[in-house]
Amino acid sequence: MKELKGNSAVPKNKIIPLEYVSKIKPYVPGKPVKELERELGIKGSIKLASNENPLGPSKKAVEALRKFFQNGHELSRYPDSNGYYLKSAISERLNVDSDEIILGNGSNELIDIAVRTFVGPGDEAVMATPSFVAYSIAVKSVGGIIKEVPLLDYRHDLAGIADTTTDRTKIIFIANPNNPTGTINNRDEFERFMNRVPDGVLVIVDEAYYEYVMDSEYPDILNYFAGGRDILILRTFSKAYGLAGLRIGYGIARKDIITEMNKIRGPFNTNTLSQLAAMHALTDDEHLKKSIEINEQGKKFLYRELDSMGITYVPTEANFVYMPLNTDSKNIYEALLRMGVIIRTVGPREIRVTIGLPEENERFIEALKIVIKSWSN
Ligand SMILES: Cc1ncc(COP(=O)(O)O)c(C=O)c1O
Repeated sequence: MKELKGNSAVPKNKIIPLEYVSKIKPYVPGKPVKELERELGIKGSIKLASNENPLGPSKKAVEALRKFFQNGHELSRYPDSNGYYLKSAISERLNVDSDEIILGNGSNELIDIAVRTFVGPGDEAVMATPSFVAYSIAVKSVGGIIKEVPLLDYRHDLAGIADTTTDRTKIIFIANPNNPTGTINNRDEFERFMNRVPDGVLVIVDEAYYEYVMDSEYPDILNYFAGGRDILILRTFSKAYGLAGLRIGYGIARKDIITEMNKIRGPFNTNTLSQLAAMHALTDDEHLKKSIEINEQGKKFLYRELDSMGITYVPTEANFVYMPLNTDSKNIYEALLRMGVIIRTVGPREIRVTIGLPEENERFIEALKIVIKSWSN
């Protein structure tokens, strides 16, 4: 029999995706260092593109994994579907019940689960633009309609979002701090906003960068949860806790909300290793403190250098800096790539740079200076 190869293997009956799925523009992840080095044949590149923790993971988490692997026996067992120990640790720390917590394969999965639980075809979800792209992908994937409200001065326009909410709205997404701008909405703005949100609309407050926030006006969202509001708070171990590669995040909401979400959660969505590492990372105050310190230090360095170069940036409450440029962002991105510095374009004239280790921040600034100088000659 003739072997089928390449295109000759395309089946006769083409599989037709749902129309609303085929229209989705796929998520583009930050370029991995190894991929760049393979493509350009270079070494020693740095990645400041995915808002990862430049210090690496908590040593306590790594030590727990090492001990686990010494025996490794449990790898043949399914993980604890309920994530009992990790949920208990989060519950104790935040003073919420375990059944008010849901674990996800990264907080990204919880965005999907929430949307699949509460949004159907034709239902609306309101979100800011630009904001974290996973929101719109999740809503489009179930045939929902996205209503985008432009940022106002790089921050969520909460009044505009409340104005856009209709009786078809099922979910409102608020990233606080926002990705890609790193900005927050403060306590008073949030209080005014929550007073306008009708009952029955789930407000998803995505606090992926919660641990990095320095602004004392940052709202304490857990108060709204404690007040019984229709709110889902999302947090993650991918950023300040340095566990992005293990994929683990959590959500907090009223028990009735969590119960519904759990019905469609894959039973083993978070694995044994991620649960174990997250539990230990949660107790590693020193690692968390260091992660925040290095971010603050990097922030100050970048502000000072960008100021001296006359480059505009938006002050950040997260671990990345958004820069609206007066030039094509793709050109800057590609020129930096050729020098082994991976950043992110987040618009036609906008870039976002993750705050790295001191030497990485210096390398980025040096490379940026070279690019700018070569263009002005
Ligand atoms: C605002 C925001 N939310 C959620 C996530 C997803 O994080 P993870 O799925 O790694 O928990 C990210 C990742 O970059 C983000 O920027």
